Amino acid sequence: MDTDDSEHPADRSGSSDDDESSTEDRSSGDLSTVNEGTQSTLDTESDASEADTTLDSESGSQSIEEMLLEFDEQEGLIRERTLLDPNYVVEEDRIVGRDDQLQEVTKMLRVALGDNRPPNLFLYGPSGTGKSLITKAVCKNISQICEPRDIRFGTIEVNCQDLDTLGVAVYELVSRAADEAGVEVQVPKHGVATKEKWDELFRIVDENFDSLVFVLDELDMLVGRRDKQDPAFSRLLYQLSRAGADGELETFISVVAISNDTKMMESVGSRALSSFTPEDVHFGDYDANQLQAILRRRQDAFYDDVLDDDVIPLAAAFAAQTHGDARKAIDLMRVAGELAEREGDPRVNEAHVREAQDKVEKNRVLEVVRGISTQKKLCLYATAAVAAESNSGAARSTTGYKVYQFLTDSIDADQYHQETYVNKMKELTTYSLVDFERRSHGPSSGMFLEFQFGESPATILETLREDSRIEMVSQDEVASVVQAQIRNEG
Ligand SMILES: Nc1ncnc2c1ncn2[C@@H]1O[C@H](COP(=O)(O)OP(=O)(O)OP(=O)(O)O)[C@@H](O)[C@H]1O
Ligand SMILES: [Mg+2]
Repeated sequence: MDTDDSEHPADRSGSSDDDESSTEDRSSGDLSTVNEGTQSTLDTESDASEADTTLDSESGSQSIEEMLLEFDEQEGLIRERTLLDPNYVVEEDRIVGRDDQLQEVTKMLRVALGDNRPPNLFLYGPSGTGKSLITKAVCKNISQICEPRDIRFGTIEVNCQDLDTLGVAVYELVSRAADEAGVEVQVPKHGVATKEKWDELFRIVDENFDSLVFVLDELDMLVGRRDKQDPAFSRLLYQLSRAGADGELETFISVVAISNDTKMMESVGSRALSSFTPEDVHFGDYDANQLQAILRRRQDAFYDDVLDDDVIPLAAAFAAQTHGDARKAIDLMRVAGELAEREGDPRVNEAHVREAQDKVEKNRVLEVVRGISTQKKLCLYATAAVAAESNSGAARSTTGYKVYQFLTDSIDADQYHQETYVNKMKELTTYSLVDFERRSHGPSSGMFLEFQFGESPATILETLREDSRIEMVSQDEVASVVQAQIRNEG
């Protein structure tokens, strides 16, 4: 049970807590059954031990020891768990459907093998489309070739999701660079100016590497303090790419920026743009066939003949429904396998995949929703409530805003203008939970945005109701406000 179903890599905070609690729920459930069993055993103990057995088998409960031994004997279904781990860099022959991107990234970064600086790259596309995998796979290969050639090549990779400020981000780079070089960091983490951290970074870089690729994963998440003119990621890009370009360092530096947000480059300030002029590589959604192929190349994660024929097609179809997310497809296959194992089933079947879909969807929503502010929750709740009731499954921003007003009135929360509501919803698109299109229904209705949900609106609502303030609002009341507002739509 140790590998429970975090459907996302460990880098996503929240999911592991979530998993622990679900494991606890389950085991406490199991334990109570065991206790009941023990209790009834105790009651009848004086009579005859045979009676216990009868009772036990009648109620279907087992002693803890029996359960443990049974688990011990039971053959697992999963043979090679790493193949189902989203952070594991699989071998090249398991990478499917990304030939163009693989070729482009390889061609651009291979310059590091010669005596030149590789270009900067901007890799963008929705989550689970192979951006991190392709980058890691290419860098790993370059590194392997560099080693016997005595080229000191390094990859410094950071995920910006958990870094709040520029200072924290630069320190993270320093500490990764020191790790990669096998040297000590000589600057404190706190209490010094960011400039000193930059100096330390460039000292380590200059002394230890001939060529270095900085991989800034999920870079758009590094927003930093609001009081600064440019977002922190823009300042980070500026410093790093300038250091790469202006020849002060002997080391060839290239920056690979990775983002879900296609429009991230629009918010990169002009100063940064003058030195960070990346080659763009786009990662599009996978279709169901590609997802099937990806899963088939990993089916040896399971023992032979334990996957029913419809498991892979169904997991691929579910994942394609969202937006062609390979991580989700792999998660579904893993969670389905774990459910089957836990239930003691000899094979993984369609029902396990359906159950996994339910779990994975809930976990994903939970994970996103946990981290957002109350205001964003209210915006999301209002919009999902509209989508849940509308025939198209989509929600107009104008209608969503009315429901948002109702919600904020009901719980006496601050109420933002419609523009802010729209902006908050737009910010949520980076999580691929929701997407939007600009629309107009004739000259009288004006322009509005239409929000579409990646996960089911009902799941989103259910998850958001875990927030005690939202829970205070009556679901029926919200539904009737929503219905009235939908009727009013022009
Ligand atoms: N073309 C592919 N072939 C095989 N496996 C893939 C492919 N693309 C993605 N995967 C697998 O899917 C999972 C997610 O991929 P990856 O982490 O590269 O996505 P990403 O685009 O970086 O997503 P995010 O934006 O959420 O970070 C990983 O386990 C990866 O190994
Ligand atoms: Mg990634």
